[in-house]
Amino acid sequence: MMKICCIGAGYVGGPTMAMIALNCHDIDVAVVDIAAPRINAWNSSNLPIFEPGLDDVVKACRGRNLFFSTDVEKHVAEADIVFVSVNTPTKLRGLGAGKAADLTYWESAARMIADVSTTDKIVVEKSTVPVKTAEAIEKILNHNSNGIQFQILSNPEFLAEGTAIEDLMKPDRVLIGGRETPDGKKAIETLKDVYAHWVPADRIITMNLWSAELSKLAANALLAQRISSVNAMSALCEATGADVSEVAYAVGKDSRIGPRFLNASVGYGGSCFQKDILNLVYICECNGLTEVANYWKQVVQINDYQKARFVKRVVSSMFNTVSGKKIAILGFAFKKDTGDTRETAAMDVCRGLIGDKAQLSIYDPQVTREQILRDLAVDKLDWDHPRHLQQSLNSKHVSVVSDPYEATKGAHGVCILTEWDEFKTLEYERIYKSMQKPAFVFDGRNVIDVNELRKIGFIVYSVGKPL
Ligand code: NAD
Ligand code: UGA
Repeated sequence: MMKICCIGAGYVGGPTMAMIALNCHDIDVAVVDIAAPRINAWNSSNLPIFEPGLDDVVKACRGRNLFFSTDVEKHVAEADIVFVSVNTPTKLRGLGAGKAADLTYWESAARMIADVSTTDKIVVEKSTVPVKTAEAIEKILNHNSNGIQFQILSNPEFLAEGTAIEDLMKPDRVLIGGRETPDGKKAIETLKDVYAHWVPADRIITMNLWSAELSKLAANALLAQRISSVNAMSALCEATGADVSEVAYAVGKDSRIGPRFLNASVGYGGSCFQKDILNLVYICECNGLTEVANYWKQVVQINDYQKARFVKRVVSSMFNTVSGKKIAILGFAFKKDTGDTRETAAMDVCRGLIGDKAQLSIYDPQVTREQILRDLAVDKLDWDHPRHLQQSLNSKHVSVVSDPYEATKGAHGVCILTEWDEFKTLEYERIYKSMQKPAFVFDGRNVIDVNELRKIGFIVYSVGKPL
């Protein structure tokens, strides 16, 4: 039986390996991690990440051909294919701080693979890495390899959180990059055979290593660019009386543009868009491509502008002061159907409002109180000035509640920062009655019916909509 081991049991490693185990009864899959609490959670009924459909997939194969373990070295040593799906965050200090990817975790995983291997292996880059990383990994693996052959493949992951299971079950494409040598081609075929258990052949694309590595960064940069483009338009819509939803609809009808990823918002979040674009910017700068670097930098700058613009709108609408005023924050996750808060726009909006001395009452159906307080207490990296950490916050300005009506009770304003479906159907009449007057709603996700709320009596601001 073929053995697969995945190093890193996170948002990518867990779901992707569960999907392989579900579809490949002839393959044993072990997911390993140095974080024991995470592995314990994967082995419990309370999985470490919230992802629709994931519980069923894990239940179907855990203990059959899917295993979660902290015994990293044993499973790596036994594997034919080792996926590496460790985190690759933005470097916080040193050369490239604020932009370059921190490959510390990757390098330590590669050194460990080299140390414990006694048989030939295919090593797969699942993490998102800078283009040319495979070259460095090859050097680490092949140094002192005692005749063991390692083939490196790039197999970036395109799943989005909240729809991970759907994305993995029916991917738009699976990308595999490898060396153009006979051994490289053989390794590509081996990995292709794994995915061919459930992915149609025409959706499995193979190419050279560097194209595969760069395609991942390019895909995220282009997706984020669409959001920054529509968010930039939203500012112009507010200034002119146009409606960004109507503009996006009209534009998206052009089959060359398409309708998806054109929802204006308070700003994109998530662990990857900003990190991957900044990484791309750094790679361009290192290659002397200043104009190209500046072009992509602008995507992140517009995102920061959009978040700051939202805060400014809240403060200026509420008579230029939110000091001492209760403001309800509905939604803290970076998008709906996930409990993930990494780089969530809500974090920056909350910081901005607390900076103006607002009193926040935060509700999110999936994010715990501890997580929210931890996020707001951590110093935030200013990517443009990495030496200046923005000051951590005083938690006396924040309360976290488990009911949206409690969050909004007695509040002067409500900010909707995540597009959870339940926010569309809240009893807004009831909320209005319980709030201070005038009662403001600031919809950062365009989930509410502006006219309905105005009829109730709210003063409503919705991103990119006529005021
Ligand atoms: P994560 O932080 O959720 O998980 C990474 C895990 O790796 C952690 O549990 C950590 O303990 C473990 N780890 C780190 N070093 C290790 C080592 N030496 N040995 C064993 N375990 C180790 O990260 P994630 O969100 O799963 O992302 C992983 C990679 O996938 C990143 O490069 C990211 O850019 C990329 N990616 C993420 C997504 C997403 O939606 N989150 C989608 C596509 C690609
Ligand atoms: C994104 C990509 O969509 C995945 O293909 C990729 O694999 C992943 O990054 C990654 O590399 O980590 P993810 O960040 O999980 O996935 O979620 P998205 O659906 O892309 O949303 C990202 C952010 O953009 C969210 O804050 C979302 O609310 C926002 N967004 C998205 C908008 O503001 N408008 C839109 O039209 C779409």
